[in-house]
Amino acid sequence: MKGATLSTDIHAACELLRAGKVVSFPTETVYGLGADAGNPLAVRGIFELKGRPADHPLIVHLADSASLAQWASEVPEDAYRLAEHFWPGPLTLILPKAAAVPLEVTGGQDTIGLRVPDHPLALELLRTFGGGLAAPSANRFGRISPTSANHVRDELGDRIEMILDGGDCQVGLESTIISLVDNVPRLLRPGGIPAAEVSAVLGGRLEFSSPAHSRVRAPGMLSSHYAPTTPLELWPGEELWPRVHALIKNGERPAVMTLAPAGRGLEVEPGIAQVVMPSTTREYARQLYATLRTLDAGGHSRLLVEIPPATGEWLAIQDRLRRAATPA
Ligand code: TXA
Ligand code: MG
Repeated sequence: MKGATLSTDIHAACELLRAGKVVSFPTETVYGLGADAGNPLAVRGIFELKGRPADHPLIVHLADSASLAQWASEVPEDAYRLAEHFWPGPLTLILPKAAAVPLEVTGGQDTIGLRVPDHPLALELLRTFGGGLAAPSANRFGRISPTSANHVRDELGDRIEMILDGGDCQVGLESTIISLVDNVPRLLRPGGIPAAEVSAVLGGRLEFSSPAHSRVRAPGMLSSHYAPTTPLELWPGEELWPRVHALIKNGERPAVMTLAPAGRGLEVEPGIAQVVMPSTTREYARQLYATLRTLDAGGHSRLLVEIPPATGEWLAIQDRLRRAATPA
């Protein structure tokens, strides 16, 4: 397949962006599909490329928190506190949008998602561009987010002109999204920054519950998302291998993704494709999407994944695995 140019040429990227084109750029979480957030036509180009419904809002990426008040009509004290603590970094804040922000960016809503990414190439791009870049993850709608420039090329081929290549993403999971538009700060999406750390900075005031009473719609929170094309099943460790053996008896070729807790053997079985994932959340997150992509391309009948521990630090990983799983 012919593909987009992989490049590190910030000036060439800025020229494309100023001409209303879409450019993929790296962040610390996943690769984004960026366009000038002030140009509604350019932003529409993102939706076309991704095949994403037009009412799904995009996150606007900024070079620093100095321009927050340009994009949000109200910036509460909590926003500055969180920005100070976590930016640049994998945290997105939902705030009331400023009047000038095109509705194309916010999916027609009166709120806006803002973040300052922690990647040198992204920051250089944003500084040189001198404005906000609206960017969703650079996958086709519903698919696994890309964590390398080659993943983006696999997703979009020659449908974009340029992919800025910033290497492998160091966080590997999308940003944590916190809404500050209700009377209490609310977790909308667990992600790269553990929710407990956000809560600590807010003096324990973070609401973890699902946003049933919120003004906010976060349509990216569909139950099937981040999904490989191979059916994926989640199993507790003790039920995983019986399931594998039953499938093999039925003539299937499953692949297995397990955890490697200390003290337990790797349980590698001859003839079965198995990936043993790291036991720390940071490493697991970094490798998760690339591993799912590799296994998805392996011609397996099914992917069987060991469910990680049900503790807070695994919240974001649990969330992505559940969305990747085939609905029962
Ligand atoms: O780490 C990330 O956040 C990556 C990188 C590229 O920055 N971006 C990302 O974008 O994951 P996307 O579009 O794939 O997911 C953004 C999520 C969606 O679930 C969307 O609904 C939510 O953010 N979102 C954006 N703006 C919002 C708003 N105004 N209100 C509620 N949710 C919003
Ligand atoms: Mg996405």
